[in-house]
Amino acid sequence: MNTLHLHNTIEDIAKAGQLLRDGELVAIPTETVYGLAANALDAEAVAGIFAAKERPADNPLIVHIDDKDTVYSLCAEVNDQAKALMDAFWPGPLTIILPRAPIVPDIVSAGLPTVAVRMPSHETARAIIRAAGVPLAAPSANRSGSPSPTTAARVAADMDGRIAAIVDGGDCEVGVESTVISLCGDIPLLLRPGGITPAQLESVLGEIAVADSITRPLKEGETVASPGMKYKHYAPRAQVTIVKGDAAAFTAFVNAHADDGVMAMAFDGETDALTVPFVTYGARDDRDAQARELFEALRLADDRGAKVLYAACPPVSGVGLAVYNRLLRAAAFRVVSA
Ligand code: TXA
Ligand code: MG
Repeated sequence: MNTLHLHNTIEDIAKAGQLLRDGELVAIPTETVYGLAANALDAEAVAGIFAAKERPADNPLIVHIDDKDTVYSLCAEVNDQAKALMDAFWPGPLTIILPRAPIVPDIVSAGLPTVAVRMPSHETARAIIRAAGVPLAAPSANRSGSPSPTTAARVAADMDGRIAAIVDGGDCEVGVESTVISLCGDIPLLLRPGGITPAQLESVLGEIAVADSITRPLKEGETVASPGMKYKHYAPRAQVTIVKGDAAAFTAFVNAHADDGVMAMAFDGETDALTVPFVTYGARDDRDAQARELFEALRLADDRGAKVLYAACPPVSGVGLAVYNRLLRAAAFRVVSA
């Protein structure tokens, strides 16, 4: 298949909308990461997403909408907590899980009785949803297992030849996937941290529960509320280890392990004394920059042939919780103290 490379023009957005209506797959920019979109109401089109990504069939997809009212057709019940979250954070990087309405095909939710819905803030994403005229199911546009793409070039590297089109909307602003919260239980449950922080959620909802799988590995045979959290995710080819400690301790640790193929993933401004090649992902206290640059830094380390990558440990509060969560999975939970 010859993958079209489209841009943010009126003609190209219309073309993307037409392809989606025809049941094709189109990669779209969002403020978080690029998504691989299909008509969410067309089970056959959605099946194509799983094939193109080589995604396990039991991992459900997020449905993207451009209009808050669409929630009422996709969800069987929209409670007051959901309304309050929609008012506070939509459009934006928050996905809300609610009971599923019959219009949503089983395959979208991997058979669960719930559905995940989000209204992105990226103008190009929203223009494409409007042009398609249907809600769009869209996981991150990477091959299953590798880091989510935050540029159109990274989408092309994973998806060229597998999908009908890629719409280039520039670099993603947030850089990590949306916050996912379930409103289907007794108390709101944070399943995946992201651009909307736990403190922001609590400012609207009061107390929330945080799935402990966010910061620890699953036990053998354990079931999980968010199937996506059980897979080894976001991993580059290099073997990643998270290194805790200040700049001096990190540098000393990495330099003491300076073998062939060893690279560092350091904070901006903390690289002068490193004796190994390095990539950077924002300044030590700049959580937003770390989120924005994390996945690109992981992919860059692979491009440069890293076999072993020592990553400076990010702060774990605010958006940092999302960065730490993704990095833990990239590192298969290997964390050491320098
Ligand atoms: O920012 C984002 O959310 C990006 C952009 C493209 O919007 N999308 C994204 O999709 O990250 P994906 O498929 O890579 O991650 C969706 C996550 C997975 O962890 C999945 O298991 C969870 O959401 N999820 C989806 N539907 C669910 C449901 N009904 N119940 C529990 N978890 C669900
Ligand atoms: Mg993903």
